[in-house]
Amino acid sequence: MASPHQTEIERRQRAAEAGGGEERRKKQRERKQLSARERVELLLDENSFEEWDQLVEHRSSEFGLEAQRIPGDGVVGGYGRIDSRLVFVFAQDFTVLGGSLSEVNAAKICKLMDAALRVGAPIIGLNDSGGARIQEGVVSLGGYADIFLRNTLASGVVPQISAVLGPCAGGAVYSPAITDFVFMTGGTSHMFVTGPDVIQAVTHETVSKEELGGAMTHNRTSGVAHFIAADDADCLRRIRELLAFLPANNQEDPPRRAPRDSPAREAPELDALVPEASHLPYDVRQAIQAVVDDGDFLEVQELFAPNLVVGFARLNGRPVGIVANQPAYLAGVLDINASVKGARFVRFCDAFNLPLITLEDVPGFLPGTQQEYGGIIRHGAKLLFAYAEATVPKITVILRKAYGGAYCVMASKHLRTDVNYAWPTAEVAVMGAEGAVQVLYRRELESAKQAGGAEARAAVLQQKTADYRVRFANPFIALERGFLDAVIPPRQTRKRLIDALEMLGNKRASLPPKKHGNMPL
Ligand code: HXC
Repeated sequence: MASPHQTEIERRQRAAEAGGGEERRKKQRERKQLSARERVELLLDENSFEEWDQLVEHRSSEFGLEAQRIPGDGVVGGYGRIDSRLVFVFAQDFTVLGGSLSEVNAAKICKLMDAALRVGAPIIGLNDSGGARIQEGVVSLGGYADIFLRNTLASGVVPQISAVLGPCAGGAVYSPAITDFVFMTGGTSHMFVTGPDVIQAVTHETVSKEELGGAMTHNRTSGVAHFIAADDADCLRRIRELLAFLPANNQEDPPRRAPRDSPAREAPELDALVPEASHLPYDVRQAIQAVVDDGDFLEVQELFAPNLVVGFARLNGRPVGIVANQPAYLAGVLDINASVKGARFVRFCDAFNLPLITLEDVPGFLPGTQQEYGGIIRHGAKLLFAYAEATVPKITVILRKAYGGAYCVMASKHLRTDVNYAWPTAEVAVMGAEGAVQVLYRRELESAKQAGGAEARAAVLQQKTADYRVRFANPFIALERGFLDAVIPPRQTRKRLIDALEMLGNKRASLPPKKHGNMPL
């Protein structure tokens, strides 16, 4: 016969599993959302979930809360395995008081975060919550601050991944914001500091929830989110996919996976990828896919600042971070958003021992008052700072343009990049030929115009531009100075990158002793 304690424990367990009840669960199903438990089960390897604090209950008696004591208190958490590797996870249960964060609910999350940090394992948060539990007041706010502190301390120590699978509003957004990657689901997830009603009252602006803080807004416009998923299941699958590239913590190397691809495989199509006319676009993703193992590239922030492509791939089984200018969008120019996107990605890779491969084709920084007033100086400096500071193996290949300040910024030799290659199509110069000629030959152009009109001016311009291109639109001076280590045939890029990575296997580099740098923010 079961002991009376056993019976009571089972009753409480059943109550925890039922969460906020069938009626509320039905509403979730209608929105095509999984329950907190289903999410955890789907995320983790089968039968690997070890739940903690399932029977925790809140202690508040304010505003009728006494009658709403549900074991677990609106968050399901514990540890488990993804591809047999340890992770910690918590999932907010919207059916229990709107998944709102209470004192004990926060304490559960903090306990998991502390443990993850102690044993060096990733933390995954599945967010679906109405925010601070209103009835608990400042105690609940304190719970958020306790989580923010841990997010900050864990940053750069263990990977932190957030999925936003329902509402995430007010100060609650700052926990996902600190974590390394934010996933959102199309149509069902929303993030904002102040919602549409408050905005209407304060600024008289009318905006829908979706427009203000939906998945598309944060993936395309604000850059808050890194991935957009079709639904909960797709999101959880993609979190697993991402983790396969990452080490469990900053002391480990990323996990290697045997490729089907040969390390010596040539990619002849790359010889003709860069168009002869230097102003014509091409898709740099074709270069990435041709070079990496099995063409497998996990792009991060695909919809935000598409002029810079960043993401994870493998070279001979070794995970790497790829940063590539995208000539197919805004000619691959660096603007504020691209700089910030690149800087954060470079810093993530550096923190977690992922070598950085840079594929460069950049005409410079985007000119204009919008960019200058927005602080392109400050934001562009972030990317420069991040590259300069990074101590992981760094390899750059200049595919075509490396102009001006962008030459320096994009992992040039001067920023401690270990290996710098160029394709024969490389153009390393202070600026593009047309711009340079206007500066250098302003007087000649003016005199030609006065003497022979617009036609004469155009003839001088054409002649000088052609001369400039012969002199500067090439990799020769950079090669003579040793700023480039070698010119490589495009088709051999994969093999040369893999050889260089092998050579850098025992790289040691460090920074001068300091508390931390003062990166321009
Ligand atoms: C307590 C809450 C709650 C909260 C929702 N509920 N949010 N209970 N504290 N913060 C409860 C509701 O009373 C309701 O209970 C149930 O959860 C489901 O909520 P509904 O409103 O019925 O759901 P829905 O229509 O889907 O709307 C979801 C929502 C809305 C948009 C999230 O509930 C909402 O606006 N909630 C308040 C959001 C908010 O302002 N939070 C504070 C943000 S500031 P019943 O019993 O009816 O099922 C914040 C500060 C953090 O969080 C600071 C950190 C520094």
